[in-house]
Amino acid sequence: SVDISTFTRQTGHTTLDYGFVNTAATKSAITYIDGDEGILRYRGYPIEQLAKNSTYLEVAWLLIYGELPTADQLAEFDGRIRRHTLLHEDLKRFFSALPHNAHPMSVLSAATAALSTYYEGESDPHNPEHVELNTIRMLAKLPVIAAYAHKKSIGQAFLYPDNSLGFVDNFLKLNFGVLSEIYEINPVMSRALERLLILHEDHEQNASTSTVRLVGSTGANQFSSISAGINALYGPLHGGANEAVLEMLGRIRDSGESVERFVERVKNKEDGVKLMGFGHRVYKNYDPRAKLVKESADEVLEALGVNDPLLDLAKQLEEIALSDDYFRERRLYPNVDFYTGVIYKAMGFPTRMFTVLFAIGRLPGWLAQWREAVTDPQTKIGRPQQLYTGSPARNYPGLG
Ligand code: ACO
Repeated sequence: SVDISTFTRQTGHTTLDYGFVNTAATKSAITYIDGDEGILRYRGYPIEQLAKNSTYLEVAWLLIYGELPTADQLAEFDGRIRRHTLLHEDLKRFFSALPHNAHPMSVLSAATAALSTYYEGESDPHNPEHVELNTIRMLAKLPVIAAYAHKKSIGQAFLYPDNSLGFVDNFLKLNFGVLSEIYEINPVMSRALERLLILHEDHEQNASTSTVRLVGSTGANQFSSISAGINALYGPLHGGANEAVLEMLGRIRDSGESVERFVERVKNKEDGVKLMGFGHRVYKNYDPRAKLVKESADEVLEALGVNDPLLDLAKQLEEIALSDDYFRERRLYPNVDFYTGVIYKAMGFPTRMFTVLFAIGRLPGWLAQWREAVTDPQTKIGRPQQLYTGSPARNYPGLG
């Protein structure tokens, strides 16, 4: 078989493929999706089984190293991550330079890029020890940065990580604990968040992961590559959709507009309005992650003692959309973002933190994909072609 770059060189042909709808840029052994059947597997394991039985760090290990860890390997991995959670004190001051109303996604990407400056002597992408160390650093520090972005936005003091706690509990305490008060972990909330994070851990060559791989293909280190991935995730057509869904639901509720009328406006593409949290480039069937999130939404809200009419509104929207020809013909179903926001809200996260939670979820996938790309001898610097449509050659006339 001839790969596409050899084909292009040999024949002079270029493929124009807006949005890479048909073009594979890599081979990958990490995640399998069958969009027609609604199947998602990490390293061969069905997402449903992992979400039910495993932990965030166990799945992170699976994605990064290719097999499930043994109990000893997992304990060692967890222990190493706990020892790396502290941020350099100077980096903590970095947050003071940013406006208090900065979007936490901007804070997250800026602070992740800044992490690179602390480890520049130890960030050679081709040095396995550096790669290993920075994998641990990223997993340990990104949740702390995320929690600080949250604390900053509400004007509260940053807490130090509590390394007696596991990954998710530590993260919850960093977000919701306050100085000089004991923070009680709510096990229902902890397990619900862990499940949501597992569902987000990888999703093959989506926009942010492709960005991580593209930046990594230039020889940039993990911090720089992942910071770029966070920026790609920020957009409302990608990870930013979870925030946009909740805003959309809130707008419908507050405007008093009927759900039917809103759906009509979506179908007529009035002002470009979309049903956020619906549709997917790959899934032309129900997103298996959305199915799991929807199944648990009622249960989690009930266990947290929250009754949110926005959940009913979301279900109503889904029901109307799924029985409508516009959505059926285009095979538009709820994606993972449609129901997550309602759960994050019930947990107490502000809307602007939703995409940050997605980023923490996706981090293991970014790390695994970056490592796969960097160690693949076939990886080349990513460099798409273009079809030039500008002016033909002309002579500079001088200023008239
Ligand atoms: N609401 C209304 N119409 C939609 C929606 C939607 N959410 N999504 C797609 N369509 C329509 C398009 O307008 C287009 O209609 P047309 O044939 O009349 O022109 C048709 O369905 C095909 O859609 P495309 O935009 O070509 O599909 P694409 O694969 O390029 O986009 C995307 C996928 C970006 C996810 C899109 O469905 C969308 O914008 N959804 C809303 C945002 C969202 O939820 N993003 C999260 C994605 S999942 C994730 O990142 C975790």
